[in-house]
Amino acid sequence: MKTIAALAALAISLGSRVQAQTLPTAPCFIYDDDKIEAPCSVSVKNTSSYSIRLYGADAEPEFWSTAAVNGSWADAQGRGFNKNFLYITGANKEGVKIPMTHPVLARHNDSTPTQWQVSFFVPSAFSRNETSVPTPTDKDVTIQRAPLFKVAFKEFPGFATEKDFLSCEADLRAALAADGVATLGGTDWSRVWAQYDSPFTLFGRHNECWVRVQ
Ligand SMILES: *[C@@H]1O[C@H](CO)[C@@H](O)[C@H](O)[C@H]1NC(C)=O
Ligand SMILES: *[C@@H]1O[C@H](CO)[C@@H](O)[C@H](O)[C@H]1NC(C)=O
Ligand SMILES: *[C@@H]1O[C@H](CO)[C@@H](O)[C@H](O)[C@H]1NC(C)=O
Ligand SMILES: *[C@@H]1O[C@H](CO)[C@@H](O)[C@H](O)[C@H]1NC(C)=O
Repeated sequence: MKTIAALAALAISLGSRVQAQTLPTAPCFIYDDDKIEAPCSVSVKNTSSYSIRLYGADAEPEFWSTAAVNGSWADAQGRGFNKNFLYITGANKEGVKIPMTHPVLARHNDSTPTQWQVSFFVPSAFSRNETSVPTPTDKDVTIQRAPLFKVAFKEFPGFATEKDFLSCEADLRAALAADGVATLGGTDWSRVWAQYDSPFTLFGRHNECWVRVQ
């Protein structure tokens, strides 16, 4: 029974990935084994050193809850995660519980390096219709509509440290420069650090550094 259900879910999720650009009727699962919803994306290119994906190309809008945190990477990880977690567990005007999704994103830039934006993806059950996205009660948490954005990314395993992300991003930018791929700076989606696993997952952890490209 379990296997059949898993296969059905896999078939649905593969179908939804193929159709993501035109007909987002089902949630998009990137990592099918854990069935945690992720934003729909379209794979654009794979090279030996990086890959490129397009997000936000859906016909239907997608939304991210975003906590603004001033401080270090540890503050972004701690307070940023907690503020979003409180939002999905009931700190919203509607008092509803929202399923956990992935990845968890941390965004910042070199002009204001201590100002972080930490985001959870709002699952499709709530986000296909803007008026049904629950309203955060914490003033530092806002709802942002995902822009159409293309990212180059590299992945790495384990518990991600700030050093790991900086090194991932340096390698990625060097590979992009070598290939003549133009990056797109100066937006709040230009530089993103993505983590896919809960703190309780010890093995097979998956992280990605994203750089927005043109
Ligand atoms: C890139 O690789 C991923 C993972 O293997 C695959 O799902 C995707 O279709 C590939 N994309 C392209 C454009 O070939
Ligand atoms: C972070 O600092 C900036 C600049 O001082 C300020 O405008 C902003 O309100 C602060 N945000 C938070 C969440 O404290
Ligand atoms: C959007 O959601 C709101 C609140 O749940 C509901 O009242 C409204 O009918 C929905 N609109 C559409 C077009 O589904
Ligand atoms: C840098 O991040 C801050 C805080 O999120 C934002 O207000 C600003 O527009 C960003 N600047 C650039 C150049 O991306």
